[in-house]
Amino acid sequence: MFIEVTGLKKGYTTGEVRTEVLKGVDLQLEKGEIGVILGPSGSGKSTLVNIIGGVDRSDGGSVMVDGTTVTSLKDVELTEYRRENIGFVFQFYNLVPNLTVGENIEVCANISTAPLDVDQVLASVGLLDKKDRFPRELSGGEQQRVSIARAIVKNPKLLLCDEPTGAVDFETSRSILALLQRINTDFGTTILMITHNTAISGMANTVFRLRSGAVVERVRNKETLPAERIEW
Ligand SMILES: Nc1ncnc2c1ncn2[C@@H]1O[C@H](COP(=O)(O)OP(=O)(O)OP(=O)(O)O)[C@@H](O)[C@H]1O
Ligand SMILES: [Mg+2]
Repeated sequence: MFIEVTGLKKGYTTGEVRTEVLKGVDLQLEKGEIGVILGPSGSGKSTLVNIIGGVDRSDGGSVMVDGTTVTSLKDVELTEYRRENIGFVFQFYNLVPNLTVGENIEVCANISTAPLDVDQVLASVGLLDKKDRFPRELSGGEQQRVSIARAIVKNPKLLLCDEPTGAVDFETSRSILALLQRINTDFGTTILMITHNTAISGMANTVFRLRSGAVVERVRNKETLPAERIEW
């Protein structure tokens, strides 16, 4: 297994109140596959993906990614793990506003040991002609494509996407999903994606439904749907 999450637990204490967010999550995904996590708001989706990506810590259980036990890494090792292996795509892009499109991608390429060519990545998301623009000069869908370019330029083994189509319209969503599918095919990148949209689950090899901090359903799709054929 490429991702192996076992009995993962995470809680928060605010004031006197303790909330258990993840109550023993189990999740497995094979290398090169697309996994989709569905679940209501507050069910712990982002918390789970952040722990897998090494930006948050668990309270118990374990996460293994490509043979590394992420949950037992020290802080320095965790930073390195994140830098070497993980690409993150967020709902609200998180681009640096005073850097151009090209520069936003370059800063990520620069911290990687084996980055892809910036222009080639920009071309693959269809934005080479916008390289010298600033994020504010782009549409929402274009900004999301820049954020995908930024995540893939370091050629990560694992691409984690938290509601990548949450802020764009139907047609733009489909083109972003098609782009993710193409990255998965072309680079063999394993993708784990959070969404509210059940229609998107047709793209996945495995669909995980999270409810109240646990995986309550797991569906394997025998065949996956090309993004172009997804309707909602
Ligand atoms: N830093 C924090 N401190 C306290 N509580 C937190 C913290 N981060 C998350 N939570 C709580 O944990 C729960 C799960 O949050 P999480 O962001 O993982 O949900 P989610 O499934 O991603 O929801 P959404 O679909 O709205 O993004 C929520 O009830 C949230 O309030
Ligand atoms: Mg979330």
